[in-house]
Amino acid sequence: MSMIQIGEQLDNLLKWEVGTAEKMLELPPNSELGDFAFPCFVLAKSLRKAPQQIATELSAQFQNQTIEAVAEGAYVNFRLDRGAYAAKLLLQAEGHTASPNGETVVIDMSSPNIAKPFGVGHLRSTVIGAALYRMYKEAGYKTISVNHLGDWGTQFGKQITAYKRWGNEERLNASPIRESLALYVRFHEETDQDPTLEIEARDWFRRLEQSDEEALRLWRYFVDVSMKEFDRMYERLCVSFDKVLGESFYNDKMTAVVEELQQQGLLEESEGAQVVRLENQDMPPCLILKSDGTTIYPTRDLATAIYRHDVLKADKLLYVVGAEQTLHFRQVFAVLQKMGRAWADQCQHIPFGLMKFEGKKMSTRKGKVVFLEEVLDEAVSRATAIIEQKNPQLQNKADIAEAVGIGAIIFGDLKNNRIGEINFSIEEAVQFEGETGPYVQYTHARACSVLRKANQIENKQELDQAVGTYTWDEASWELLKRLGDYEIELNRGLQRQEPSVIARYALDIAKLFNRFYHYNKVLSAEAADKQIRLKLTQLTAMRLNWALTLLGIRSPQEI
Ligand code: ARG
Repeated sequence: MSMIQIGEQLDNLLKWEVGTAEKMLELPPNSELGDFAFPCFVLAKSLRKAPQQIATELSAQFQNQTIEAVAEGAYVNFRLDRGAYAAKLLLQAEGHTASPNGETVVIDMSSPNIAKPFGVGHLRSTVIGAALYRMYKEAGYKTISVNHLGDWGTQFGKQITAYKRWGNEERLNASPIRESLALYVRFHEETDQDPTLEIEARDWFRRLEQSDEEALRLWRYFVDVSMKEFDRMYERLCVSFDKVLGESFYNDKMTAVVEELQQQGLLEESEGAQVVRLENQDMPPCLILKSDGTTIYPTRDLATAIYRHDVLKADKLLYVVGAEQTLHFRQVFAVLQKMGRAWADQCQHIPFGLMKFEGKKMSTRKGKVVFLEEVLDEAVSRATAIIEQKNPQLQNKADIAEAVGIGAIIFGDLKNNRIGEINFSIEEAVQFEGETGPYVQYTHARACSVLRKANQIENKQELDQAVGTYTWDEASWELLKRLGDYEIELNRGLQRQEPSVIARYALDIAKLFNRFYHYNKVLSAEAADKQIRLKLTQLTAMRLNWALTLLGIRSPQEI
């Protein structure tokens, strides 16, 4: 918050647009020099003055009761009044309460395909989407999460064919995804020998599209058993959805879109299919109707977007989907634009990169897959082993190991910039040291344990006094300063739509707290210092819990 204050005044002095100077503020090499530094080199040319002179002038003009400005070479260093800052932060610190901002954000997330394994892309979409969902909510938006299930398409013809030939209800109920995958793989193996299988599959899909009773019954059954398995995963990942509206939901909403495109003269024939040309936007045409007249993925997304805008009243439409679908979304948004939907520029694809597990890709072809459930189980069993060794007396061991193991997977994903590729090592992710979820959780539990042991009811008056006299050593001061940044970090995370900003913030706080705790006695400190240090410990626990909650990670009081 002090950064904003400094930035605003500099903008004012330099007659700059609001927000410019704040972005230029740097952290001095150590906090003895100051808490923020403003470099004046860049101004030399436009102001025709030496940077040193500019620094001197700016520092003289700068005025703030609790922030001191000192010229140091070509920099203006800003030093916060530690006592005043501490008083503000420690005495008024309470939880964040967002005021509603009136905008509705619809977030498309997870969206796995029925009868197929829950892929790693779906895992990332779930975890990133859910974090963004909570961040928007925290900032006062009305948020609606939608699971856009892949529950329609020609693959269901294949699935029904395979099930009719080789399927078995008992096996499918017991392990829906494995059995579906086995059927899928077998179908592809056997079509090489027996091409009539393809014809049969096409026929089943045709029957499905015509609402044939048996086809529908089998389809619904596949959807139900798959969902049961997905839901088990969602529960472990602590994720739920406001709406589960699969692709099939739009079956009766696409004719209107196709007709509108036709009336607007946007449809053109290309090799028997109907497309919208997009060469003006430097893109290949967007396919709307296949040559046999059936609609496809982009057509569904057009109907979906219109539904989200018109019915769900979305102001922002976000799609958390892997980077490989970038072209698809650019095309869909461009077609919406051509249809005169000005709100198309509020549609946004939020892409992310590939993730591999110990170098292994999750791929469904030939059935070579790493199952998400196995990944989660492995993380939990590793967490169990570590806890068993570190703290064998712990109560609720199984539940806490679940929180730590799952937290490790979520954090291991979210600490990275979403767009990069990740090579995930489960072993590394569950360590209690290093940049991991368990490290943050453990630090949180450590802070909680200090507070438990102190067993002290806060005395406002004593704290007031102590703030005035406390000598702010570097470790306490750095921790305090960072604790005050959480709202800035939330805004920054939303601006970039990056949960990693929150994960990094949590890591910073955890590191700073551990350093603070290393250099300072807390429980055995004398009364006034103890007041301050317990308050810092309490704020640490609060902020870590805040950050972990935003990321979708539980923060047990004891580990
Ligand atoms: N089911 C799709 C897939 O697995 C992802 C759907 C993403 N959302 C959307 N509105 N297209 O590739």
